[in-house]
Amino acid sequence: MDNRKNNFDTRPRFGGDIDPTQRAWIEVSGKAIEENVRKLRSKLKNNCQFMAVVKADGYGHDAKVVSENAIKGGASQLGVATLKEGIKLRSYGISVPILILGNLYTKKDLSTCFRNDLMPTISTFRECLICNNIGKSNNLKFSLHLKVDTGMSRLGFEYYEFVKQFNKIECLENIAVKGIYSHLACADENNALQPNSSTQLQREKFQELLKLINIDEKQNIKIHLANSAGMILGKDFHFDMVRVGLSMYGYDPLKKIKKNLFLKPALFLKAKVTFVRTIEKGIGVSYGNKFISDRKTKLAVLGIGYADGIIRNLSGKISLIHNEKLYPQVGSITMDQMMVDITDSDDITVGSTMLLLGSQGGQIISPVDWAYKCNSIPWEILCSFKNRLPRVQVD
Ligand SMILES: Cc1ncc(COP(=O)(O)O)c(C=O)c1O
Repeated sequence: MDNRKNNFDTRPRFGGDIDPTQRAWIEVSGKAIEENVRKLRSKLKNNCQFMAVVKADGYGHDAKVVSENAIKGGASQLGVATLKEGIKLRSYGISVPILILGNLYTKKDLSTCFRNDLMPTISTFRECLICNNIGKSNNLKFSLHLKVDTGMSRLGFEYYEFVKQFNKIECLENIAVKGIYSHLACADENNALQPNSSTQLQREKFQELLKLINIDEKQNIKIHLANSAGMILGKDFHFDMVRVGLSMYGYDPLKKIKKNLFLKPALFLKAKVTFVRTIEKGIGVSYGNKFISDRKTKLAVLGIGYADGIIRNLSGKISLIHNEKLYPQVGSITMDQMMVDITDSDDITVGSTMLLLGSQGGQIISPVDWAYKCNSIPWEILCSFKNRLPRVQVD
């Protein structure tokens, strides 16, 4: 049975009569994910575990493909943002521990979390009590991770209250604290390795707290702090586990600090040429006629636009690859289509495939490049792709 056709999966499925690679699609390399996880794990401190962060449908790649291949590469836990994302992974038969990184605050959601063998992130004593009651009524212990805020000001117990709260939590008999964690706010900033940077201060604060609760005497609690950037900064940030997203997908989160990890992008965004036309010099292209041809110009019309998640602000700023050559996108990106100047090509026709993101021969276009061009971040670029783009696993 194809258990992906469950109530939670809203992505369109393609029947036998519709080719998913007919218009525009995303190819995902499971092998790249697996190899990236292996490479990243080889940089970890001894006995440090790897949590693959697969929230937002595996950063737009397809959470099922990513999770299965990350586990093959040695990931021992998964991180998601929502209850629904966690339940969906369980419906695929994935059995490794799954941590919900977002906040669950109702008894109903926490009960659902427990029933599906998912671990919540807990930021208040009140939520601990709810979990304890759920555990008690099932005669079991409810496994969870505690989060403490050390400088992100998002989720987590207040730093100065944590020790007191932890001492109370330890007395609750029907919860099992499986992890204590915090999240870095600025690990990808250029100063992250400097002694007084906020990233170093967050690490020091976290370590101080761990000492105060005598963490060395508590064997079964996994301590974790680092995202991709934190992991790459160094072993001081590794503790018992790292939570890695962006790097596992093949991209470097650090702006200036360069450590060549030889990661492989796992995502290839492709679109077919659906129409070709030639315009004379001085003709406007697309809405607003923002591009005016300065020569007789051959245009390819591609079936992909901002309704597929291509940020409109990238209009006229990106290039596409065909047979290892780059061609500029011209005019405003429209809802469902975009135009590309293919005057210099003699091999692009209707039905040709062009590459928007990914690598071909020596050419590479990454979400990091796109992010730079439209004042965004690679995470946002990856999460922007809509369900209208089928995801196709290629290996
Ligand atoms: C709590 C938490 N941990 C880890 C990650 C993974 O971050 P990255 O993609 O930078 O590795 C995220 C992602 O936003 C997160 O929210």
